[in-house]
Amino acid sequence: VTRDLSGCGGPRLGIVGGGQLAKMTALAALELGCEVSILERSPASPAAPLSSHYAVGDWNDPETLLRLAERVDVLTLENEFVDAAALAAVAARGHALYPTARSIGLVQDKLTQKQALRAAGLPLPDFAAAESPAEVVAAGEALGWPLVLKARRDGYDGKGNATIEGARDVAAAWARLGGGERDLYVEAFCPFVMELATILTVGQDGRVASYPVVESEQRDHICHLVRAPATVPPRVYRQAEDVAQRAVAAVGGTGSFGVEMFLAPDGRVLVNELAPRVHNSGHYSIEGCATSQFENHVRAVLGLPLGSTDLRASAAVMINLLGHSEGPGWPAGVPEALAVPGVHLHVYGKARSRPGRKMGHVTALGGDPGETEERARRAAAALVFGAIQ
Ligand SMILES: Nc1ncnc2c1ncn2[C@@H]1O[C@H](COP(=O)(O)OP(=O)(O)OP(=O)(O)O)[C@@H](O)[C@H]1O
Ligand SMILES: [Mg+2]
Repeated sequence: VTRDLSGCGGPRLGIVGGGQLAKMTALAALELGCEVSILERSPASPAAPLSSHYAVGDWNDPETLLRLAERVDVLTLENEFVDAAALAAVAARGHALYPTARSIGLVQDKLTQKQALRAAGLPLPDFAAAESPAEVVAAGEALGWPLVLKARRDGYDGKGNATIEGARDVAAAWARLGGGERDLYVEAFCPFVMELATILTVGQDGRVASYPVVESEQRDHICHLVRAPATVPPRVYRQAEDVAQRAVAAVGGTGSFGVEMFLAPDGRVLVNELAPRVHNSGHYSIEGCATSQFENHVRAVLGLPLGSTDLRASAAVMINLLGHSEGPGWPAGVPEALAVPGVHLHVYGKARSRPGRKMGHVTALGGDPGETEERARRAAAALVFGAIQ
């Protein structure tokens, strides 16, 4: 514990994890008058300055989780990697925890997640368990090349993924992802024409607040840009809404969920994956929607009514700011970026920039999608994290 400040008597929210998602959730919670407690592995984190109580510890240890649970009214998570059994132990002691240990357990192993989605009848790329390089080759022959080899657990920003063009690439990809020590599985490559995403917030009464369907563009498997709303035919838009609702219903739970989807060349919408938490594709909602994904998440876990998800502008464009190189967590180019009208800057407050690390984002709002994107790009281009000093 680094410090302990008492709050105003509002609900006490505990967040497991202290990264940028926890920070933006904590900001929404503080606006509502909540007191925020954080459990993080490292002594400094983006959410630390916002917390009344900050514990440094292992979030997979049930005792450590219990100590956090005992000092808050409701516990929530900023990532899906926390051990589901540890979470179940906390819930079994009567502590309120959202999303539930059950939905975390279903989602945190991507193979289990995809089996649950397939069992619920959702369309998704073919996949198969793969316990050896020979099984990957067999899957390639059955499903067709290319394949995407993925870590079943703890993958983020594409770090647990490798695309395999044919049998001769299997051994290298298997070794790179740590096959043998780490459980892997394979998916058929989806030659998508666009990636879509949406956020759904599920309230404790089961009501669902659906955010607009957005287009997300990844670079090197990392979310780069989000366009809200997605410019797709109404039939595709409705299909994405429907697929996302069914995917979230399949895992169940309370709070904000992110659903990543592929628009296939034949016009079908397939599920890529589900995140049982607030999601990068919903960051635009802070300024872009009447109620952000973070505020609705806080409302949901506290059992409060959800707010409107209506867009506050015709177009919103969000661009992630990744670290260029080693350096401080504050970027060069802030005056130039903020000189661009209608642009909002979020600097996450990480102590250090590293190449490819998510350091912040910008969101632009406007009337015309192309012009809005141009402003977002201009602001993002001005900002550099890491030393080009
Ligand atoms: N089966 C697939 N076919 C085609 N592209 C894929 C496939 N699976 C993943 N990708 C590409 O890689 C990106 C990252 O994959 P995935 O969502 O599995 O990774 P992740 O590490 O969980 O990422 P994040 O945590 O950032 O969402 C996808 O957004 C997509 O661009
Ligand atoms: Mg993903």
